[in-house]
Amino acid sequence: MDRLEWHVVIPPEKEGEIIKVRIAGKAICILRSDGQVYATAARCPHAGADLSTGWCEGRKLVCPYHRHRFDLSTGKGDAGQNNFVPVYPLKAVEGVWYVGFTTSWWRKLF
Ligand code: FES
Repeated sequence: MDRLEWHVVIPPEKEGEIIKVRIAGKAICILRSDGQVYATAARCPHAGADLSTGWCEGRKLVCPYHRHRFDLSTGKGDAGQNNFVPVYPLKAVEGVWYVGFTTSWWRKLF
Protein backbone atom coordinates (compact mmCIF):
# COMPACT_ATOMS: atom_id res chain seq x y z
CA MET A 1 0.00 0.00 0.00
CA ASP A 2 1.35 3.43 -0.98
CA ARG A 3 1.10 6.45 1.25
CA LEU A 4 2.35 10.02 1.38
CA GLU A 5 5.38 11.01 3.39
CA TRP A 6 5.46 14.72 4.23
CA HIS A 7 8.70 16.72 4.25
CA VAL A 8 9.21 20.30 5.45
CA VAL A 9 9.97 22.86 2.72
CA ILE A 10 10.46 26.62 2.77
CA PRO A 11 8.69 28.18 -0.22
CA PRO A 12 10.14 31.26 -1.90
CA GLU A 13 8.66 34.54 -0.75
CA LYS A 14 8.71 36.42 -4.05
CA GLU A 15 6.13 35.98 -6.76
CA GLY A 16 7.61 34.05 -9.71
CA GLU A 17 10.63 32.80 -7.77
CA ILE A 18 11.71 29.17 -8.21
CA ILE A 19 14.04 27.32 -5.85
CA LYS A 20 15.47 23.84 -6.25
CA VAL A 21 15.75 21.53 -3.27
CA ARG A 22 16.69 17.89 -2.87
CA ILE A 23 14.38 15.90 -0.61
CA ALA A 24 14.28 12.15 -0.15
CA GLY A 25 16.57 11.72 -3.16
CA LYS A 26 14.38 13.81 -5.46
CA ALA A 27 15.33 17.14 -7.01
CA ILE A 28 12.23 19.30 -6.91
CA CYS A 29 11.23 22.87 -7.70
CA ILE A 30 9.31 24.84 -5.11
CA LEU A 31 7.84 27.96 -6.59
CA ARG A 32 5.37 30.72 -6.04
CA SER A 33 3.29 31.88 -8.96
CA ASP A 34 -0.08 33.51 -9.40
CA GLY A 35 -0.38 33.74 -5.59
CA GLN A 36 0.00 29.97 -5.07
CA VAL A 37 2.85 27.69 -3.99
CA TYR A 38 3.63 24.64 -6.17
CA ALA A 39 6.06 21.74 -6.18
CA THR A 40 7.23 19.98 -9.36
CA ALA A 41 10.04 17.68 -10.38
CA ALA A 42 13.14 19.69 -11.32
CA ARG A 43 14.00 17.68 -14.45
CA CYS A 44 12.27 18.57 -17.70
CA PRO A 45 10.73 15.46 -19.30
CA HIS A 46 11.64 16.68 -22.79
CA ALA A 47 15.46 16.64 -22.68
CA GLY A 48 16.37 16.89 -19.02
CA ALA A 49 16.87 20.62 -18.48
CA ASP A 50 16.82 22.01 -14.98
CA LEU A 51 13.35 23.52 -14.61
CA SER A 52 14.48 25.63 -11.64
CA THR A 53 16.29 27.82 -14.17
CA GLY A 54 13.06 28.35 -16.09
CA TRP A 55 10.32 30.83 -15.29
CA CYS A 56 6.62 31.08 -14.47
CA GLU A 57 3.89 32.43 -16.70
CA GLY A 58 0.77 32.52 -14.56
CA ARG A 59 -0.04 28.91 -13.73
CA LYS A 60 2.55 27.52 -16.16
CA LEU A 61 6.19 26.59 -15.63
CA VAL A 62 8.32 27.25 -18.73
CA CYS A 63 11.44 25.21 -19.47
CA PRO A 64 14.46 27.39 -20.35
CA TYR A 65 15.77 25.06 -23.10
CA HIS A 66 12.99 24.61 -25.64
CA ARG A 67 10.16 26.51 -23.96
CA HIS A 68 7.91 23.57 -23.17
CA ARG A 69 5.20 24.73 -20.77
CA PHE A 70 3.69 22.71 -17.94
CA ASP A 71 0.53 23.28 -15.93
CA LEU A 72 1.56 23.84 -12.32
CA SER A 73 -1.50 22.10 -10.88
CA THR A 74 -1.56 18.98 -13.04
CA GLY A 75 1.94 18.84 -14.56
CA LYS A 76 0.40 18.38 -18.00
CA GLY A 77 2.38 19.79 -20.91
CA ASP A 78 0.78 22.15 -23.40
CA ALA A 79 -1.05 20.71 -26.40
CA GLY A 80 1.30 18.99 -28.82
CA GLN A 81 4.06 18.38 -26.29
CA ASN A 82 2.73 14.98 -25.22
CA ASN A 83 4.56 15.08 -21.91
CA PHE A 84 4.12 16.02 -18.29
CA VAL A 85 6.21 16.87 -15.28
CA PRO A 86 5.45 15.23 -11.92
CA VAL A 87 3.78 17.59 -9.45
CA TYR A 88 3.64 17.03 -5.71
CA PRO A 89 1.02 17.97 -3.11
CA LEU A 90 1.77 20.73 -0.63
CA LYS A 91 0.12 21.65 2.64
CA ALA A 92 0.67 24.34 5.26
CA VAL A 93 0.16 23.46 8.92
CA GLU A 94 0.50 26.28 11.44
CA GLY A 95 2.71 28.24 9.06
CA VAL A 96 4.99 25.31 8.16
CA TRP A 97 4.90 24.02 4.59
CA TYR A 98 5.18 20.36 3.69
CA VAL A 99 5.58 18.55 0.37
CA GLY A 100 4.22 15.01 0.03
CA PHE A 101 5.83 12.10 -1.80
CA THR A 102 4.31 8.73 -2.42
CA THR A 103 6.46 5.97 -1.04
CA SER A 104 5.54 2.41 -1.82
CA TRP A 105 6.05 -0.29 0.78
CA TRP A 106 8.05 -2.19 -1.84
CA ARG A 107 10.54 0.67 -2.19
CA LYS A 108 10.87 0.94 1.57
CA LEU A 109 12.11 -2.63 1.66
CA PHE A 110 15.06 -1.87 -0.64
S1 FES B 1 14.57 20.25 -22.21
FE1 FES B 1 12.80 21.25 -21.47
S2 FES B 1 11.74 21.77 -23.27
FE2 FES B 1 13.47 20.72 -24.01
